[in-house]
Amino acid sequence: MSNKNNVTEAYKGWLTYKKITGANWLNENNKWLRTIVVKDHSEVMKSAKNELVNAICEMTDEEPTLANAVESSYQILLTTSKDNNVESLDELNEDGYVIQTIHSNDRSYISLTGKTDKGVLYASFHFLRLIQTRTNLDNLNIKENPANQYRMINQWDNMDGSIERGYAGESIFFENNKFTTNLERIKDYARLLSSVGINAISINNVNVHAVETKLITDEFLPDVAKVAEIFRNYAIKTFLSINYASPMQLGDLKTADPLNEDVRQWWKEKAKDVYRVIPDFGGFVVKADSEHRPGPFTYDRNHADGSNMLAEALEPFGGVVIWRCFVYNCMQDWRDRKTDRARAAYDHFKPLDGQFHDNVILQIKNGPMDFQVREANSPLFGALTETNQILEFQVTQEYTGQQRHLCYLIPQWKEILEFDTFAKGQGTPIKRIVDGSTFENKLSGIAAVSNIGNDNNWTGHQLAQANLYGYGRLIWNPDLSTEEITGEWVRATFGNDPEVVEQITTMLHDSWPIYENYTSPLGVGWMVNPNHHYGPNVDGYEYSVWGTYHFADWQGIGVDRTVKSGTGYTAQYFKENADMYESLDSCPDELLLFFHHVPYTHKLKSGVTVIQHIYNTHFEGVEQAIGLNERWSKLKGKIDEERYDNVANRLEVQIENAKQWRDIINTYFFRKSGINDEKNRTIY
Ligand code: GCU
Repeated sequence: MSNKNNVTEAYKGWLTYKKITGANWLNENNKWLRTIVVKDHSEVMKSAKNELVNAICEMTDEEPTLANAVESSYQILLTTSKDNNVESLDELNEDGYVIQTIHSNDRSYISLTGKTDKGVLYASFHFLRLIQTRTNLDNLNIKENPANQYRMINQWDNMDGSIERGYAGESIFFENNKFTTNLERIKDYARLLSSVGINAISINNVNVHAVETKLITDEFLPDVAKVAEIFRNYAIKTFLSINYASPMQLGDLKTADPLNEDVRQWWKEKAKDVYRVIPDFGGFVVKADSEHRPGPFTYDRNHADGSNMLAEALEPFGGVVIWRCFVYNCMQDWRDRKTDRARAAYDHFKPLDGQFHDNVILQIKNGPMDFQVREANSPLFGALTETNQILEFQVTQEYTGQQRHLCYLIPQWKEILEFDTFAKGQGTPIKRIVDGSTFENKLSGIAAVSNIGNDNNWTGHQLAQANLYGYGRLIWNPDLSTEEITGEWVRATFGNDPEVVEQITTMLHDSWPIYENYTSPLGVGWMVNPNHHYGPNVDGYEYSVWGTYHFADWQGIGVDRTVKSGTGYTAQYFKENADMYESLDSCPDELLLFFHHVPYTHKLKSGVTVIQHIYNTHFEGVEQAIGLNERWSKLKGKIDEERYDNVANRLEVQIENAKQWRDIINTYFFRKSGINDEKNRTIY
């Protein structure tokens, strides 16, 4: 890593390769770490080799020697050619790999074999993780294939250096409307991403303003190419978000109508320009007709027309269009209680199923609203049977505490991926739809909005690194448990001291329910300040010129999304789920207010009333936040100061802010409902 950056443990993240102390593990395993044999020589192979050499050197204080062939025992072999001793290579996909300790007649060695050099790179990072977690290397036998084809990160970085919904400083890519000169930091980001299997990145915000519109012109393409090269060496493809109205803003056309011949030609020429400079460019990410962005609706065209037009331009070069389904009319008036933003993605895209070109992928947010602490899962998963799709998560904590609060999101994503859509009967979870297996999609996968910036620890909150790590690991293999992922991350990042591992693991696992407790109850969502979305504001919602979002009045609260009396949204699910949500009896408590409008005195399955639940969870949430701080304080002296202080300071802020949430929410509902807390606690 470059000395331009402050390469502390906070900066190194989970690629902290601490010197191994305690002789046992090293005595038994050091023999394997002395020589590395590299068979093929691509840039990606070089990255793999460098990662191994540097990390082993840091951990053992000995630099491994390099060789061209396995000539003696105890070597690490990196290869993409069929190693005769390794079985089951045929079962590998493009990015898959095998890690095996081979004991053949004349020698023993560890083979890191990939079908391609990408697989070898992933195998190398996996191998290093085994060392970090002190696995014995004598009898390894691991085969890995990523479940998802696209494993993507979306940066929401603007060229002025700001980051939309960024909570960890400024962009590492851009400053003052130019590209950064600190390419070393981008390389370190590529290393972090690649180490958890990410293979695609879009580097600019989906809201493409005037300057970023020019990213696809000669002015900036050479810079994009430099960044793409850094990522390419770590097996990551580069994408750009584009402005749908580019032909008007960059060219001299009077229209961006997707069916207009000049517009189509303009994009074809543009694609040529881009691929001339970056031959393996991934493609375009598009936000259209949403939150005031331009799109095909202006011309009375639909989103198949819009995306197919771009797809045609990219097709000759193998590029793809990633078209976001976050399309809704943010100015709509919902006072009739029939109009419903949650319906929008399904209403727009379901009728178009089957009309998209082969190289169009629809990108669907996990929920129908917007990355709330708890919301229903998008009914589009399972509903699109003939369309390529990827799921969109948000690693950046826009609505989940903005990296000032601890909120570990892996348990939330696990729940979402495991959710049974019933699309092909029981046993059709979302994870099997987005990995392309249920409907045999040609292109599929998962994307997420990044949580990094140029703060020294990348994520603002040191422990928010776990969300980025866990995101990569989970989408590589959605069958991994939260516990496995957390265990890996904590040990790679902070070492193997049992007290440290236990406290941090518990803090992470408890954090999402804690955050939910003191913020918005029972799936109702929002209740945040408009625009910046931080802190409590029960009626706050920037587009809410039409009154409150959750319809709270003196009698009750919640959005009626039933077919019987509400917006009809429940009908967008397959029958089993539609029935479950439609009925008050079977609707799960945690989503009650997302689906139903109920009186405050409605009894939950837990036996308490809605109002009492609101009071209880808000009091509890604050106590639990205090508990997080108590756990962390036990680690003083066991963790370096930079990381210790960072988390300690943020936990203080979290506690103060949790109290604010408690008081504002409880007071609001006490005044609205006039119902006392059964436990007579003070409500301010
Ligand atoms: C949310 C978020 C915006 C973002 C948008 C999107 O509305 O607040 O900042 O642009 O999602 O996903 O496009």
